[in-house]
Amino acid sequence: MEETRVYLSQKEMPRAWYNIQPDLPKPLPPPLNPGTGQPIGPEALAPIFPMGLIEQEVSQQRWINIPEEVLSIYGLWRPTPLCRAKRLEEALKTPARIYYKNESVSPAGSHKPNTAVPQAYYNKKEGVKRLTTETGAGQWGSALSFGCNLFGMECQVYMVKVSFHQKPYRRMLMETWGGKVTPSPSSQTEAGRNILAQDPDSPGSLGIAISEAVEDAAKREDTKYSLGSVLNHVLLHQTIVGLETKAQLQKIGVKPDILIGCVGGGSNFAGFCFPFFPEKAAGKAIRFIAVEPTACPTLTKGLYRYDFGDTAQTTPLLKMHTLGHNFIPPGIHAGGLRYHGAAPLLCLLAEEKLMEAVAYPQNPCFEAALLFARTEGIVPAPETSHAIRAAIDEAVRCRKNKEEKVIVFNFSGHGHFDMASYDAFLSGKLVDYEYPEEKIKESLKDLPAIGAK
Ligand SMILES: Cc1ncc(COP(=O)(O)O)c(C=O)c1O
Repeated sequence: MEETRVYLSQKEMPRAWYNIQPDLPKPLPPPLNPGTGQPIGPEALAPIFPMGLIEQEVSQQRWINIPEEVLSIYGLWRPTPLCRAKRLEEALKTPARIYYKNESVSPAGSHKPNTAVPQAYYNKKEGVKRLTTETGAGQWGSALSFGCNLFGMECQVYMVKVSFHQKPYRRMLMETWGGKVTPSPSSQTEAGRNILAQDPDSPGSLGIAISEAVEDAAKREDTKYSLGSVLNHVLLHQTIVGLETKAQLQKIGVKPDILIGCVGGGSNFAGFCFPFFPEKAAGKAIRFIAVEPTACPTLTKGLYRYDFGDTAQTTPLLKMHTLGHNFIPPGIHAGGLRYHGAAPLLCLLAEEKLMEAVAYPQNPCFEAALLFARTEGIVPAPETSHAIRAAIDEAVRCRKNKEEKVIVFNFSGHGHFDMASYDAFLSGKLVDYEYPEEKIKESLKDLPAIGAK
């Protein structure tokens, strides 16, 4: 039998996260105060984030030690396996080698606990009793409920309404770990009430759910807010994925040509690719390919501008690719990819042409997911299916060009709670939303003037 799985022992697990900031080709444009247009200092973030995370947000230190308590919880599922998708390769008749890093083996079923655990840890250390957050697909809400539970903290999750109804079992999972789940927009916050007054049937969006979670946290002394993607410290925590992948590839003497990940806010893609960035910057030919839905094509169609992270305009302005903070993407099944912006660190690399981005409609992604499930066995999350689509397309290109490339993608999560979306696909009911050009044009009109060149 040919070996198809590469393991690291727990002793070999990385002890520090990799911070890309000192290695960037130019400094990251700072977050701005929307009122003054001036860069905000760490103190502006203090009402909603603990200092431990704010320090990481702005740190220029290349390596940041992972606390012992976090390592011991990571040990519940890490290191995760790197697997060769041999049967998928055979089905595609490709000379390429396809590997995937399996982040679906975490308790919550995705990469999200990699940051949920340290976020809960740093909050707990500073005496915070309760965290609020948003969730799209429910993966992030589950991860934070899991993390908070381990540190004896409360967790309030605002879940995008369309996903709340599509994925009742995700809600139940969050409640199993002690989380409290509210469909967003809700009447629990002013931001939610405003949206409901304009559109009582709003399907919700990550932007709206963020507004609700931030407002809730700002109103209570014992509460802080936690974000599952986009921010620098979140991407930092996710680098455990890429660092392990690098060590695993080294173990078998394999050099990657193409790294692929799906992008919602950008955390799994960045965590997977960033540890390979120093080699890429030094001239090694490694392609980074980000994959997003055509229904929410942030990196491929968005403008690189300062914008709010949320719909109610409560966050600082971030320089990123954006479709406009008012853009509400169609209710595709990859709920975790329905975000109007993306991580500033990722957007800077995209702007500098140090990575590529592609967009796919959901049906071709589900086709790829089905082929993966029928060859490799694991049922992918709808978000992950985007990365698989791109990996398959690259492998087919290798077949046509007779190239033996090494393609590695991040298997960000399983789809065990997404079976309703597979049902819709299998019964031919899944709708493809092409790029909603008019809606995006309309929403881009509302971009703040600050920072526009
Ligand atoms: C399985 C899975 N993959 C990917 C994503 C996208 O998020 P990010 O771009 O931050 O990794 C999500 C978000 O919920 C997810 O649940």
